[in-house]
Amino acid sequence: MEKTLSIIKPDGVSKGLIGEVIRRFEKNGIKIAAMRMLWLTKKEAEGFYAVHKSKKFFESLTTFMSSGPIVVMVLEGENVIAKNRELMGATNYLEAKEGTIRKDFATDIEKNIVHGSDAPETAVSEIKYFFCDLDIV
Ligand code: CMP
Repeated sequence: MEKTLSIIKPDGVSKGLIGEVIRRFEKNGIKIAAMRMLWLTKKEAEGFYAVHKSKKFFESLTTFMSSGPIVVMVLEGENVIAKNRELMGATNYLEAKEGTIRKDFATDIEKNIVHGSDAPETAVSEIKYFFCDLDIV
């Protein structure tokens, strides 16, 4: 079974969307294999998004990601990386398909409610950033 990392970002948590996001995962046959809530420091957010360090939006993104609590989850299922990305919709909510999480709830290309790993290698490293093996059931 494939695994991926999902994050409900500070805007998703503050808008009361934790249950709604999890409901969409479970309704679509995705299993939650680990879950916790935390509040990232700026440094921890910078570490997580290190791959975007050279981007113009890096400062703003990491400030936003450390602005409030987030929920991190390990999702498990067949083709779960692609399935999660389909449920989230495009990064830019204006381009996201109808019925996706970002189309329904995002307000901004940055404040886009959820994050999901984009490939098997990133899924492994992103899961490791937040969870140890013993946390994953
Ligand atoms: P995420 O899937 O978490 O991956 C990187 C994040 O950077 C992305 O979602 C957005 O929150 C943010 N992002 C990507 N592109 C832009 C952009 N052009 N302007 C601002 N933020 C962006």
